[in-house]
Amino acid sequence: MDDRLLAKNRVSSKGRVKPKLVRVKVRSCIEARPLSDETCSCGAGRLFSYNKLGVQDRNLARSIHKPLTITTMNDPTDLPASSYIHGTAATEQHRLSKLNDLINEASLRELRLRGNENILDVGSGLGQFTRVMARAAGPGARVVGIEKDTQQLAEAVRQARASGEESLVDLRSGDALALPLRTEEWGDFDVAHARFMLEHVPDPLGVVRSMVRAVKVGGRIVLEDDDHDVIRLWPEPPGFALLWHAYIRTYDRLGNDAYVGRRLVSLLHEAGAVPVRNTWIFFGDCATGRNFDALAQNMIGILQGARATILAQGILDNAYFDGALETLDGWARRPDAALWYAICWAEGIRQS
Ligand SMILES: C[S@@+](CC[C@H](N)C(=O)[O-])C[C@H]1O[C@@H](n2cnc3c(N)ncnc32)[C@H](O)[C@@H]1O
Repeated sequence: MDDRLLAKNRVSSKGRVKPKLVRVKVRSCIEARPLSDETCSCGAGRLFSYNKLGVQDRNLARSIHKPLTITTMNDPTDLPASSYIHGTAATEQHRLSKLNDLINEASLRELRLRGNENILDVGSGLGQFTRVMARAAGPGARVVGIEKDTQQLAEAVRQARASGEESLVDLRSGDALALPLRTEEWGDFDVAHARFMLEHVPDPLGVVRSMVRAVKVGGRIVLEDDDHDVIRLWPEPPGFALLWHAYIRTYDRLGNDAYVGRRLVSLLHEAGAVPVRNTWIFFGDCATGRNFDALAQNMIGILQGARATILAQGILDNAYFDGALETLDGWARRPDAALWYAICWAEGIRQS
């Protein structure tokens, strides 16, 4: 088996790893030319140029260039059964809570609630933003959160109780594609909202269609989601480009879209709503900024949490992963570091 054949066997044109057990001797996964869609001749899948990786760190450079052996390419059945890549471990729930602290104010500002609305929050997670919306909409509001994962839901209920806000929200177990709404609730909501959820489902259009059906004529559908391509770190931490690329690949391997953010307006249109507004919510900071540490730790936490799934793809090995993450941690302590990221935000109206 030569290297090219090996690469073909490992990664399909859609970037999916095929279920084949192979023993691979990789001599080097770096070629000094700027390629994007080609596979590396070493068989390591999509290629990032040496320069783009910006390997200036000697230890990392050695770990990248040293011969490494990947003994197995995992069958997709080895992946977690859930398509929710982040999982529900306590550390992950802690990360999600901190993330809420960082963005809820901006999400609420863009949402422009008028008060007393009936609100549906799809993929409500720990329910923190669901409760923020309920507080903002006031005592006349009725707010329903739908969450598929029972552990996530249990923690959401616990937090709502602990804050004495259990009665503010109706948190329900259910799937975004089969919303657990009563007959009279369909077409009765003023606002249907989903944040960081469409990126975790294989059929985001199906979800948006359900959200359109859930709101009344004239009601609003508000979507907030990631487009992982928009991230910029400077000075670029060596190894980060390939690490982030490997993280992004986990989405399509699970059948999800890591770039769904850019599609929000067209999803609204395809689902039969009239898109009326789109914007970005800035989600970055510079080293001296108030939120920088929390944002950098959120990014590191995301990567750490997805470690097993990232490594299962075989795009990079343990040593590379750990080296790049350590370098990223060092970058986060630089006084000149800057993180640029933005959340895609779009709003549509149900017309008929
Ligand atoms: C990243 S969290 C975001 C939670 C919340 N919207 C927020 O912004 O804090 C995504 C949530 O969507 C949930 N989820 C994923 N797929 C789902 C589905 N098909 N139906 C309902 N919830 C789903 C996950 O379990 C997870 O709690």
